[in-house]
Amino acid sequence: MLCRKSGIIKGILFKSADTIMEKIIELKNLKKYYPILGGLLRKQINSVKALDGIDLDIYRGECLGLVGESGCGKTTTGKAIIRLHDSTSGDINYYPEGSTDPVNIVNMGRTEMKRRNIRSKLQMVFQDPTNSMNPRMLVKNIIAEPIREAENLNSREMDVKIKDLLKLVGLDDHHLLRYPHEFSGGQRQRLAVARAIASNPEFLVLDEPTSALDVSVQAQILNLLKQLQHKLNMTYLFVTHHLYVVKYISTRLAVMYLGKIVELSQTNDLFDSPMHPYTFALLSAIPDVDVDKTPNRIILDGDVPSPIDPPKGCRFHPRCPFAIEHCSIEEPVLEDVGNEHKVACHRKLDIPKLVFDKYGKIYT
Ligand SMILES: Nc1ncnc2c1ncn2[C@@H]1O[C@H](COP(=O)(O)OP(=O)(O)OP(=O)(O)O)[C@@H](O)[C@H]1O
Ligand code: SF4
Ligand SMILES: [Mg+2]
Repeated sequence: MLCRKSGIIKGILFKSADTIMEKIIELKNLKKYYPILGGLLRKQINSVKALDGIDLDIYRGECLGLVGESGCGKTTTGKAIIRLHDSTSGDINYYPEGSTDPVNIVNMGRTEMKRRNIRSKLQMVFQDPTNSMNPRMLVKNIIAEPIREAENLNSREMDVKIKDLLKLVGLDDHHLLRYPHEFSGGQRQRLAVARAIASNPEFLVLDEPTSALDVSVQAQILNLLKQLQHKLNMTYLFVTHHLYVVKYISTRLAVMYLGKIVELSQTNDLFDSPMHPYTFALLSAIPDVDVDKTPNRIILDGDVPSPIDPPKGCRFHPRCPFAIEHCSIEEPVLEDVGNEHKVACHRKLDIPKLVFDKYGKIYT
């Protein structure tokens, strides 16, 4: 069914008359509660609400940035999508290439995902490649493993594919017979990328892929990821808490706070016209080498509340400089304010002016 007003036809979003964006992943009210066990019998006594109702569409070919403070649920979101762990409730719809009929993978078993060739299509690169690779395996075996899961190649074809992959990520044939510890940090991350793309994925979660690297190597890996995305036609969910990194690499940006998405928009729009007080605070925290350009800072009071017992109403209200009584009573929903910009705040329309009046210009 085509809805002209919202521009939505089943899995497809019509962005304008001539560009069509297809959904690849759709999260609906996704929750992930980690159980907390206690007592002699190790019974569940509580839970960490790492994801508490995430609604998010990811479009084929885009790089969606996901930012927020430590512990807000970024990695959990990535792991849930590629089914590294089970979700508590909600839906994860995957749209296979060329299809507008989603497959709900939220409860799909590993074997079924493998049988339907979905496992190989959704992959992840982690912050620390050392922990995600078997230190006793040679590079050629590390890369061969995911290829074997995805396709049946004879040994000559396998050799060619492994060498091509190494070349694609900027490594050489002579690296084939090394172990992961015999690489620099940047090379190891290239290796992790080679392994992640070995199964011809359509969707990659990149979880802080450059945070453990020094600045010059960070830039190399970011450029490599950008090139690979275009060359291999992949979709990225790029998780980080460095806003300058997502500004460079992502086309859209989602801001998370305590297990919820609080703002979502085109990256440029979010930097130019943020609307959620938390986004303003994140933007004001970006350091600037030019001291004169250093913005006024919004210093948030208090610590991030516990995800075991998040605050009632708006989760940000105990730290929000603009909270009103209503904020502690009713939880704001993520609402479209036009121009593909969504915000979850009761005062979203006043906030830009209130921030300006209180702090001046936050970010240039
Ligand atoms: N396996 C687990 N068991 C229990 N709690 C967990 C587990 N993994 C994560 N958590 C909790 O879930 C919440 C979200 O964690 P997550 O790793 O998704 O945060 P994050 O946004 O990726 O943080 P960071 O920026 O530090 O990587 C945190 O409170 C964390 O302590
Ligand atoms: S809803 Fe209220 S507390 Fe929450 S961000 Fe908006 S103004 Fe602040
Ligand atoms: Mg994380």
